[in-house]
Amino acid sequence: MASLQIVRAGHPILRQVAQPVGDPTDPELHRLVETMIETMDEAGGVGLAAPQVGVPLRLVILMVPETRLSDDPEDTALPLTALINPVITPLGDALVEGWEGCLSLPGLRGLVPRAERIHYRALGLDGRVIERIASGFHARVVQHECDHLDGRLYPSRMTDLGTLGFVDEMARAAAEANQADAEEAVDGD
Ligand code: NI
Repeated sequence: MASLQIVRAGHPILRQVAQPVGDPTDPELHRLVETMIETMDEAGGVGLAAPQVGVPLRLVILMVPETRLSDDPEDTALPLTALINPVITPLGDALVEGWEGCLSLPGLRGLVPRAERIHYRALGLDGRVIERIASGFHARVVQHECDHLDGRLYPSRMTDLGTLGFVDEMARAAAEANQADAEEAVDGD
C-alpha cells in the first residue's frame, strides 16, 4: 500500500476529538498501522497519530530512539509501538520545557512545557494492556501524540510563542552565531 498523506494544521480533523478504537485486533486496523509506519518513516518522524492521516481514531504510533534520550535517568528508549486508546496520567506537577516539531506543522519547532513524568496505559495491537511510567523525551513524545487525539497541536501548549520558528532559520542563525564566536576568538588571539 502506498503511504498516506499527512494533513497539516488547518485541516479540521486536527481539531477534533478522535473516537475510541473498538477492536484492537481488527486486521483493517493493523493494515492502517502498517501504512502509518511507512508514512512516518518516509516523513522522518518519531510519532504519528491516526488523525494526522485523516482517520479520527484513538491510535498513535511512536518510538523513542536512544539518540534522542534526555539526561533524565528515567528516560527510556522504546521500539516502534502502537498505542490504542491511550490514557495519560501526569505524575506530580513538575513541567519541563523541550523543543518539539510536528509532521502537521512542517519545518517548524517550538519550546513546549510538558509533564516531566507520566503514567500511561493503552492497548497494544494484540489487545493486551500496555502500562508504563515514562519521563524525559519518552514522556514528551507520548504527550505530543496523545494531544492529537484530543484535537490539540503543540503551539496551543506553548507559553512563549516567541520561540516558535522555522528549523532551517534557527539552524542558520546558530551557524552564524558560531562563526561570529569563532571569528571573535581568532581576533582575540
Ligand atoms: Ni504532531
